Amino acid sequence: MAVQFSEFLADLNARVHLEDVVGEYVHLKQKGHRYWGLCPFHREKSPSFSVDAESQLYYCFGCHKGGNLFQFVMEMERMEFIDAVKMLAERVGMELPERSGYERDRQRTDTAQREKIYEANRAAAMDFHRRIWTSEGAKARDYLYRRGLNDSDIKHFGLGVSAGGWCDLLDTLQKEGHDRETLVKAGLVVEKNGKYFDMFRDRVMFPIISAQGRVLGFGGRAMGDAQPKYLNTQETVVFNKRLNLYCLNLLKKERNIGRTILVEGYMDAVSLRKSGVEGVVATLGTALTTEQADLMRRFAPEVWVSYDGDSAGQKATLRALDILEEQNARARVILYPDGMDPDDFIKSRGIEAFNAIKPMDAYEFRLLRAADGLDLSTQDGRTQYALTACEILKRVKNPVELENYVTIVSGRTDFDKEILYRQIGTSPVTQVKDKKSPRIRAEKTPPQILQAQRRLVALRAAKLLPDGLVDPNDFDDEICRALFEGMCEGRTPGELVGETDGEKREAALAALQYEQLPEDREIALELAEECLGSIRKYRLEAQIDALKQRLKTAPDGERGQLMKQLNGLLAELDRF
Ligand code: UTP
Ligand code: MN
Repeated sequence: MAVQFSEFLADLNARVHLEDVVGEYVHLKQKGHRYWGLCPFHREKSPSFSVDAESQLYYCFGCHKGGNLFQFVMEMERMEFIDAVKMLAERVGMELPERSGYERDRQRTDTAQREKIYEANRAAAMDFHRRIWTSEGAKARDYLYRRGLNDSDIKHFGLGVSAGGWCDLLDTLQKEGHDRETLVKAGLVVEKNGKYFDMFRDRVMFPIISAQGRVLGFGGRAMGDAQPKYLNTQETVVFNKRLNLYCLNLLKKERNIGRTILVEGYMDAVSLRKSGVEGVVATLGTALTTEQADLMRRFAPEVWVSYDGDSAGQKATLRALDILEEQNARARVILYPDGMDPDDFIKSRGIEAFNAIKPMDAYEFRLLRAADGLDLSTQDGRTQYALTACEILKRVKNPVELENYVTIVSGRTDFDKEILYRQIGTSPVTQVKDKKSPRIRAEKTPPQILQAQRRLVALRAAKLLPDGLVDPNDFDDEICRALFEGMCEGRTPGELVGETDGEKREAALAALQYEQLPEDREIALELAEECLGSIRKYRLEAQIDALKQRLKTAPDGERGQLMKQLNGLLAELDRF
């Protein structure tokens, strides 16, 4: 390995200034070492988005989004990490380190082959689309008109039709200079017993286009009763169904949508989008994958699962909710009446009715489906339901939310909430969980103590803390503690933030970007001591309270020892 990748990243980081990169998207005004502008991640009228030239981090005080250089490019360009690195490297003329000559050669042939496949796919998409406007395409156009689309929808989604013959596409594309082997590798042509023929014949064609605008593959809808109803491009070196979504290319252009909508079918996506619904994507004929869930979360914090109202769709919804939960995406469900699918619904009821649907909370949905097949008018049914519901509720972390759900279940089953809580609490799962996190604090850290910890982290990041003044044990907030320890080990704030995501990242940035810090070292030191003082004092008081509690019930034999400890702590407290 010629150059360590981490060294390369550090080098790249040093050569690219975050403020310059952000400046290309946001108009920035400098104030000290911070630059300010209107946040590109949420709508606002006065600037609360800041770029800190010193720490090379960005942070919005309004929507709390923030991160380092790479994260900014990933979020603005909706890119994977490695693509953001490539883009930034290109900017300053740096070449990505390559592992070995062998790998370089292999990569080159891979890239060349992929390029050829992309070109073949593009040519095929153009041929399908061109054909739909010819007399040969009349049947397909009629089919789509009947399904409620018009000519401009056909153009917008790049829809087309495949020819009815055995090798029309093969002939056309070969004439255009694409070789047969590439067409096979692209999944456009199949070989059987030495004969080659088109994969898609006489079908309406939906091109699947990546976020980067490249045609990855196709979904082909039969116009009659031909089977299968939808034929999809098989996996190819450019088409991975686990990693992509239908309409990702359109989603990429939508900002600040707040939620994405996940549907099952190509037609559902087309139909909702043509009616003006934003943020809609579909899976590619398979169940939702963790990669897709993660991908969607990058575009918006919430995902609304909008599968068919039939029982298969409802079961798939439950599975999708679990996958989304695993990926820490907030999820809701859009429920359609009478087994309708999104396409049926919007066509028969219209966009106003669609917008009026209030998406259901994920747990409420699970509780609703748990009643399927049970007769709640019988004691037996209610008992069974209560047991299943309590099993589901074991996963709810937030006590306030849990209270709401328990109320719902109690209303449905007539069981006392107390009983339901006990049923939920007796879970072996919960017991194991408790053992795993022994660090249970009696009380939540008060906001001013958290603020003091964040200030210390910010001061450390600005190199305004003398070594040895603060100890990692001064932090009871885990994120502050991890940041502090990381910086003590010589890692930069940018690197540390690079390892966080979601809420953790927001919390890390809230610490690092807490506020303007004093420039003067003396004043900074005073501030640090003040923070440290309030943290240590709070700790002492908490310990004293705990001791006093123990004294109330302690047996006589222990009291003397406890009193001695208490006096020691009280004396320490006096020093503050
Ligand atoms: P549906 O059959 O629910 O799709 O399949 P749909 O949109 O309602 O179909 P229309 O309205 O009759 O045209 C949902 C998705 O499952 C995949 C496709 O991705 C489809 O969009 N599917 C379905 C297949 O891959 N093959 C099939 O034979 C059927
Ligand atoms: Mn349908």
